[in-house]
Amino acid sequence: MNVLFISSEVAPFSKTGGLGDVAGALPAALASLGHDVKVITPRYRDLRGAERLEPTGQSLLLRFPFGELSGPILSARVSERLEVLFLENAFLFGNRHGLYGDAGGAFADNHRRFAYLSVGALQAAQRLRFIPDIIHANDWQTGLVPVALRRGFQTGPLAHAKSVFTIHNLAYQGQFPKDVMGDLALPWDLFTAHEGLEFHDTVNFLKAGLVFSDALTTVSPTYAREIQTPEQGYGLDGLLRHRAHRLHGILNGVDTHEWNPEDDAFLPARYGLKDLSGKAVCKRELLARFGLEDGPAPVFGFVSRLAWQKGMDLLLEALPAALHADIRVVGVGSGEGPLEEGLLALQSRYPKQVGVHIGFDPGLSHLVEAGADFFLMPSRYEPCGLNQMYSLRYGTVPIVRATGGLVDTVEGGLDGNGILFEAFHKSALLAAIRRALALYADPSRLDEFRRRGMEKDFSWGASGRRYEALFHDLVAE
Ligand code: ADP
Ligand code: GLC
Repeated sequence: MNVLFISSEVAPFSKTGGLGDVAGALPAALASLGHDVKVITPRYRDLRGAERLEPTGQSLLLRFPFGELSGPILSARVSERLEVLFLENAFLFGNRHGLYGDAGGAFADNHRRFAYLSVGALQAAQRLRFIPDIIHANDWQTGLVPVALRRGFQTGPLAHAKSVFTIHNLAYQGQFPKDVMGDLALPWDLFTAHEGLEFHDTVNFLKAGLVFSDALTTVSPTYAREIQTPEQGYGLDGLLRHRAHRLHGILNGVDTHEWNPEDDAFLPARYGLKDLSGKAVCKRELLARFGLEDGPAPVFGFVSRLAWQKGMDLLLEALPAALHADIRVVGVGSGEGPLEEGLLALQSRYPKQVGVHIGFDPGLSHLVEAGADFFLMPSRYEPCGLNQMYSLRYGTVPIVRATGGLVDTVEGGLDGNGILFEAFHKSALLAAIRRALALYADPSRLDEFRRRGMEKDFSWGASGRRYEALFHDLVAE
């Protein structure tokens, strides 16, 4: 099959979170199953590996009421069957740092930027004479893809393509004032609450994706159920229940080349199931990196966007009590100001026990995964979550709240591979940390936990085949 995969971020070129990881790895998994895959994404100003980009000789021209937008299509070939295509435009992507916003908040022209990505991706496929069987869009930034497919591209070579839309996070919806309809020349007959783009008198890009796609997926089976409830549906649960027969929960996988403790260039020592001794070297290096003294105390790590979703406020609430015990806490994260300040304040209050790096640092995130004994993810909600899977692969026992994909990947209990807690409450998190301390005090049991985690297969193999099966079913319809 020919698959056109559209995403606003693609690792290693651009990434703010797990979407980038998935857009880097799932297309590769599909390509290795024998499909021809083209990934389309913006050519941001700050792109890792920009030197790999080559011109395709083709360019886009899109007409909007506010003017014409054009720009070249660039390409990076990843393998014989996989190519990443970049849409370049000086006014939308080339003139600023950041993917979606900066210190001043979300960019004011995001509706134009991601309309260009969504419509431009379809035009790019045509220009490059790539006729997709499946067009796979992801999150609100690409919500207009299935709309454009039905209104604008319904008679050309893309007419027979089936559309798939993956929800990586239902809380981010891309809502804009309704004058955006006119700005983008979206037909006003689509501005309806029932089976349209309207959401409480705004235009909702995510809803567009949910209404107009042939199939919907989300990134874990548990999250697929949760988003159909009013508590976690963010106002779209009714629509999702209505389309439940079209909604599939498919667990994300791990890019096992990028995340492999036996072959990880970011680590001072490598290790694997047969010999875990390198992990202790990583722990020493991790403590040194944060200026903390080495010793027998257990290390609790975190790597996170600092956002409401991730429950870092709960962590801040619980840690002062937890730090009565001889533990170390180290982590890397960036995001909301008050959370950044809270973490830095904790570090100043407990300089011998806490180390925090505010920023986005992939190398350090690998070292935290490898060097920590336990990994903290007290999420309020979590569509899938990747870090807990990285932790399991790295022999680091995850401590997670029982929500979303965390439930589907971490096994609790006496013979599990991690520690789960239910209530989003300080006492529940503290109880989980106490369970971790008891486990740490029993080295042979800790070793068993680690090994059970490391033995699990979280590669994209099985999930890639589930997407493939879904694509086959759609094409056969
Ligand atoms: P989400 O997409 O909700 O942020 P995931 O667990 O799916 O959560 O994925 C997060 C990804 O982003 C992981 O690869 C993680 O290592 C990475 N990440 C998050 N914050 C940072 C950071 N401050 N520095 C480096 N990597 C980070
Ligand atoms: C989102 C979710 C995260 C998920 C990632 C990749 O950012 O918050 O749970 O793992 O997308 O699907």
